[in-house]
Amino acid sequence: EQAGKGEFDHFMLKEIHEQPTSLAQALEGRIDPENERIALSDFEPGTFADVESVQFIACGTSYHAALYGSLALNQAGIRSTALLANEYSVSAPPVDDDTLVVAVTQSGETADTLNALRQANAEGATTVTVTNVVGSTAAREADQALFIRAGPEIGVAATKTFSSQAVMLLLLGQCIAADHHGEPPADLEALLPELAAMPDAIDGLLETSEADALAEQYAHSQSYFFIGRGLGFSVALEGALKFKEITYEHAEGFASGELKHGPLALVTPETPVFAVFTGEEDEKTLKNAEEAQTRGAPVIAVCPDDHRAVDVADEHLSIPETAPDLAGLLANVQLQLVSYYAADLLDRPIDKPRNLAKSVTVE
Ligand code: AGP
Repeated sequence: EQAGKGEFDHFMLKEIHEQPTSLAQALEGRIDPENERIALSDFEPGTFADVESVQFIACGTSYHAALYGSLALNQAGIRSTALLANEYSVSAPPVDDDTLVVAVTQSGETADTLNALRQANAEGATTVTVTNVVGSTAAREADQALFIRAGPEIGVAATKTFSSQAVMLLLLGQCIAADHHGEPPADLEALLPELAAMPDAIDGLLETSEADALAEQYAHSQSYFFIGRGLGFSVALEGALKFKEITYEHAEGFASGELKHGPLALVTPETPVFAVFTGEEDEKTLKNAEEAQTRGAPVIAVCPDDHRAVDVADEHLSIPETAPDLAGLLANVQLQLVSYYAADLLDRPIDKPRNLAKSVTVE
């Protein structure tokens, strides 16, 4: 097992560091920045012309990637929603021939997600799965499969597969929007070079990250809160899930605007607040973070170096400048590292957290 980890102490850290490669693999042959094109060879142009709405179904980290993809699709003018697969049988909105249901699942074997996929198939929706595992049940049962090509992920905590899922959902969303509107989304031209630059951006971030020192500083806090807005909200949820999963400490993710509607009562000097800035109404998120800071909470801003939040926050985790659609994914890598180093300091069994399985094949 040690041999498989290479120079790293844990698979999780290895997999975090594999993200430049796994993302490059996900993108290879699928984007063409020079000609401003996305080419998902799995789908003929026009495949999604009749799609009127999209439902994403997923669990856990894959659900957070689904939220990311769903919001980006809404921003591209297509009605979409992300649903927890385990709630689907009781809360699914109606589907018809014009509904596309996208099952997002790293393993392709999650029972809750397969059940929801089967329900969508039975109700006549067109189905696609976005998965890492060729030959998985989801890949066989969905009408079509889009593979994220992240390579095997051994750590129970999903890391590199989240980044690849989110990027593939952005690409899929751009294709759906292009087919639906009959022309590529307006921001595609700006997005493609930034997408192509993501592997290098993550590489640079991994080399310069100060997440280990930050984790050491706050590793013995009472609770950890993660806030964000828009795409940053899904990253806040994912940051909190990762933190609780491997540190066993209490962590929660909130939409930053929700803090004042209840969670602020929990905020004390013992509850660090990680604020994710993605360029979506950042001023409001900063105001929300300051409200927590006024109650004594240390605020850690996750944002580029020249962001106004750096002057306000107590601490800063730096991310490279990129397109707004991608900033959250860079912030997420910093949060993965914070969780990892905090769990390591607390001496947790990082790759195999108690009570959890890599693939949950029971309902
Ligand atoms: C993530 O760190 C978890 N291990 C878990 O939430 C996981 O994402 C979830 O069980 C879904 O798995 P899947 O992507 O294989 O369907």
